[in-house]
Amino acid sequence: MMISEKMNESLNKQINEELYSSYLYLSMSAYFEATNFHGMAVWMKHQADEEYQHAMKILGYVNDVGGRVKLGAIKEPKFEWTNPKEVFAESKEHEIFITKCIHGLAKQAETEDDYATRNFLSWFIDEQVEEIASVTEIVDRFEFIEDNKSALFLLDRELARRGQTH
Ligand code: FEO
Repeated sequence: MMISEKMNESLNKQINEELYSSYLYLSMSAYFEATNFHGMAVWMKHQADEEYQHAMKILGYVNDVGGRVKLGAIKEPKFEWTNPKEVFAESKEHEIFITKCIHGLAKQAETEDDYATRNFLSWFIDEQVEEIASVTEIVDRFEFIEDNKSALFLLDRELARRGQTH
């Protein structure tokens, strides 16, 4: 095995965090479907798919370096929100948390002189910058439109398109 037991465990934990992220965004997408924000539902479903891919990327790496993938229980995500703005604000908070997790892993890799894992994690470090930038843009849009219903409708339509092209 090319990684330490401790690193193997930390990567398995991150697989779980990414799967939980996928689950959380799927739940957010379902909330949007139920409240007739179909564009936002598409956007969140796309996010959920990406998170699943993140989990698969780490899973593939653990296998590549001869580690052992161990999957744990995925906790139940939140089910109900007050409004779309709250959902995106929480999504941003969650991405800030995930960024901390990734940085913690990078720190551990550096402490262990595990250059392969540190290098592997660079993609995730960059990805987190992208993710926080795109969700922040949406959170800021909500601040700007406040309670304007037609602006909210337009944002919903716009997010549907992004979901398809991103
Ligand atoms: Fe897998 Fe949204 O970070």
